[in-house]
This record gives sequence, C-alpha cells and structure tokens, in this order.
Amino acid sequence: MHIARTIDDLRAYLAPYRQATAFVPTMGNLHEGHISLVHQARAHGEAVVASIFVNRLQFLPHEDFDTYPRTWESDCDKLRAAGCDVLFAPDERALYPEPQTCKVQPDPALADILEGHFRPGFFTGVCTVVAKLLNCVQPRTALFGKKDYQQVMVVRHMVRQLALPVHILACETTRSEDGLALSSRNGYLSAEQRAEAVQLARTLQGMAKALRGGHADIAHLEQQAHEQLGSRGWQPDYLTVRRRSDLQAPLPGDPLVVLGAARLGTTRLIDNLEV
Ligand code: PAF
Repeated sequence: MHIARTIDDLRAYLAPYRQATAFVPTMGNLHEGHISLVHQARAHGEAVVASIFVNRLQFLPHEDFDTYPRTWESDCDKLRAAGCDVLFAPDERALYPEPQTCKVQPDPALADILEGHFRPGFFTGVCTVVAKLLNCVQPRTALFGKKDYQQVMVVRHMVRQLALPVHILACETTRSEDGLALSSRNGYLSAEQRAEAVQLARTLQGMAKALRGGHADIAHLEQQAHEQLGSRGWQPDYLTVRRRSDLQAPLPGDPLVVLGAARLGTTRLIDNLEV
C-alpha cells in the first residue's frame, strides 16, 4: 500500500490509473463498516484509494475534533489487509495549506435539516472536504456508508449540481451482531451504554414495522419513539419519518426512511432504516 502525504505525491502516483480508481474517504479509526467499503470498492476501480483525514471544518467548536480517535497504526494494518492500494493521509497543512475560505455551500433545503439543524455548518464542512478530496483523487467512483444517510444525499446533490465526474455509491450499513450500526463514536460508550446503544436501532425498527403495517399517524409514531428512548435515559435530537427523495415530510405513497439521532450520556449516535 502506497501512503501519499501530499496532493502532489498522490496525483503523481495515481496518474497511470487515469481516474479508474474507486475511493473511500474516511476520518480513520476504521471499523468493519469502512473495511466493507474498501472491499466493495475493488469491483469499481483498478486501484482502491482510501483517505484518512479528520476534517476540522465539519466539527463545531464544542464537538470532539481534538479527542476524535486517531488510530494510525491499526488503520494502516486494516487497510493493507483489506487490499487497499493507496492511502491518502494528508496532514492539515497539506490539505489546507492556507485558511479554507472558499467553501462549498450545500443546498440548505437538504443540508440545514436534521443533522444540519443540530450541527450547523456540518455539511458545509463535509462538502468542502469531500469536494477537495474528490479533486485530489479524481476517482471514477466514491463509496459512502448509508449510516450517514443525509450525508450521502447531500454529497450526491453536490456532485450532480457541480457536475463532478464521479459516481457516488451508497453502501449498506454494517451492524454488529445485536444490530448496532458500526461507528467510530461507539468507542466512546461504556460497557453499560454499549449494551443500551442498540435501542436506537430497535426504536427505528419499531417505527419501520408500524409504517409497513399501515400505521398512518406519523406524528404519533415520532412522539412515541421520543418517549420510548427518553424513558431509557436517552436525549433524542430527532426520531423522524421522512420521504427518501429529499428528506422532507412524506406524502402518501412516498418511499420512506426513518432517521434518528440521540445522545446516550455524552455520545451522540445516529442511525436510519429504509422502510
Ligand atoms: O463520513 C465521514 O467519515 C466524513 O464525513 C467524510 C465523508 C470522510 C468527510 O470528512
């Protein structure tokens, strides 16, 4: 596995591939979800490129940028074992050599709701770094996990509106045996919280089941879900039913997705389920 620390090195190394690469952007602290993306990437490019970059721009000042788990050695081992060909791992000076004052402002209709409402500016940070990483790697396909459902939609919309020459592939969420969606932030949970954490997925499953069974009172379903998690000691930001096309309130017949974000102690977890 070649490790590129600078954009010039990356571009020189990838030049012979002429954009026939598949790309998995990450912030490191890799788990089976990331590794599954690397495996899936193999089918979409002659070379598989991953990146590790903890992107300051997508963290609010009170969030966990400084403490975000950085696990370089084990990440490299996992990527090598997964057959990753190139790892792009710039430091902040290499990716942001000057203050990144030129930013990608995603469509507020999609980016200022749900995650964007509770984490203002989050998707501007994500779009800015993803656009920059895509420019650096110039892949044919970029793979993202559906656990970050809204992120995939925002990135897809950016790619379409800016006519970026890349195909965005959304991959299924990897879950642990009990159903908890894998996430780097699961590592923050105590043993007791880890046992409780699956309740977020279970609550969304309950909502999805009710909807499949013809339950039409969405407001009631959302309120019940809030109460259910709240009574177990969670602090939900949202537990909501949206239409898949644009994450707005659904009309009858719309394909649906249920999405949730809730805090367990100081750890904020998100998950979703297509109905
Ligand atoms: O999903 C993530 O890990 C990050 O948001 C991403 C896409 C790597 C951008 O920093």
